[in-house]
Amino acid sequence: MENIHELLVNRRSIRRYTQDEVSPEDVRLILEAALMAPTSKSSRPWQFVVVEDKEMLERLSQCKPSGAMPIAKAAFAVVVAVDPALTDPWIEDASIAASYMQLQAADLGLGSCWIQVRGRFTADNMPSEEYVQELLGIPETLPVVCIVSFGHKDEERRPCDTSKLLWEKVHIGSWKEV
Ligand SMILES: Cc1cc2nc3c(=O)[nH]c(=O)nc-3n(C[C@H](O)[C@H](O)[C@H](O)COP(=O)(O)O)c2cc1C
Repeated sequence: MENIHELLVNRRSIRRYTQDEVSPEDVRLILEAALMAPTSKSSRPWQFVVVEDKEMLERLSQCKPSGAMPIAKAAFAVVVAVDPALTDPWIEDASIAASYMQLQAADLGLGSCWIQVRGRFTADNMPSEEYVQELLGIPETLPVVCIVSFGHKDEERRPCDTSKLLWEKVHIGSWKEV
């Protein structure tokens, strides 16, 4: 990717992956991106669980009845957990780290998708966070914000159409009702 703007225009959520593995070097770069993400007061409250095992990916994809399908066929997924005792903007810190991983993946030509876990429920009405914590042995004091699935793209997505951006949401100087 030539520059950050081109990367942002071309990054789309990718929900279908080939069965090709992602190289350990690329997995490492994606995790490096997470670990370099900015956090409030540099508290770095996150924890990342990397899952490559196919059976575990399948079970993680059942963390909610819909919207988690991409995890099942991903080359790997990163579960983003975070410690709210360390900082109050923990959701923001975890979210930025997840986004950083997605941007690094895009730069490597890989696809990724954010799967929302926080505030969601399994088909049996169990909080998705608890389901994921139990599966992976994550302490219950560490809420799971999301799972990011990664893999080689098996679908084409159109780049973002910059002529259709919602400029009415940008207010210059002060709030302007539209
Ligand atoms: C907070 C958040 C939660 C999301 N949850 C899901 C999800 O559970 N499942 C899914 O397939 N995509 C999920 N997405 C991806 C969005 O659907 C996607 O980013 C949005 O439709 C815009 O498409 P794009 O990423 O291709 O530009 C989520 C994205 C964000 C930022």
